[in-house]
Amino acid sequence: MELIVQPDIESLAQAAAARIVTASAAAIAARGRFTIALAGGSTPAALYRLLAAPSHVDRLDWRHTEIFFGDERCVPPEHEWSNYGMAFRTLLSHVPLPADQCHRMEGELPPAVAESNYAHTMACAFDSRTAPWPQLDMILLGMGEDGHTASLFPGMEALAEGSKTVVATEVPAYVRPQVPRVTLTLPVLNAGREVMFLLAGQGKAAIVKRVLAETSSEGGQVQLLPAARVRPARVRPAPGRLTWLLDRAAASLLGEV
Ligand code: 6PG
Repeated sequence: MELIVQPDIESLAQAAAARIVTASAAAIAARGRFTIALAGGSTPAALYRLLAAPSHVDRLDWRHTEIFFGDERCVPPEHEWSNYGMAFRTLLSHVPLPADQCHRMEGELPPAVAESNYAHTMACAFDSRTAPWPQLDMILLGMGEDGHTASLFPGMEALAEGSKTVVATEVPAYVRPQVPRVTLTLPVLNAGREVMFLLAGQGKAAIVKRVLAETSSEGGQVQLLPAARVRPARVRPAPGRLTWLLDRAAASLLGEV
């Protein structure tokens, strides 16, 4: 696991963009396409705007890129809470990505239907004959102050899902927005060739300290917080890379880093 600390959200976005550009070139060279799952929430917006900026937009080969989503809130795509909507406003509406290469979760549909449809999308996009789980080249993730990631929340059944690639889930009562979600499951997150957490702000410092301590523990998965269960390097036969990208505020309780 690699831990990178940057001074602020803008330099965090620069570091993340550089890793995405590198991963993209390697994936296209090796397999003819780059598959990336975008994170929701607010933290990634700075990265998405940077990828769409004149300084970066031509660094990715959008014709050979396929966009997926780690999770979605069950609201219409134009809703302010939509993860797709945030990505569309900050990135997707500004880059030459072919429309059929953007695979959004259909938040406007009943959760069970959106789950089934996205599972079909993943099955069509990834060949299950070559790997037990869809292998995305890059998975971007955030983390909530409760240690959730994507829409895998502590104590919810979705966290323990071990056979489906996609599940619909309710959220704990304390979570906002209080709407059902659709999320990739933990086996898919752990099958990623590269998984990158993006975290910023003092509010994340305490949970970052706790989760990174759990992530590096040799214990099993059962008691760990959701974000601590994302350990692609332990997957066999194809271990993935795990990177935690933090700004200085989110890393402020980690001691000497
Ligand atoms: C979501 C995200 C979620 C997010 C974290 C952090 O749908 O909310 O997928 O996992 O990444 O809650 O969100 P912030 O970046 O807004 O802190």
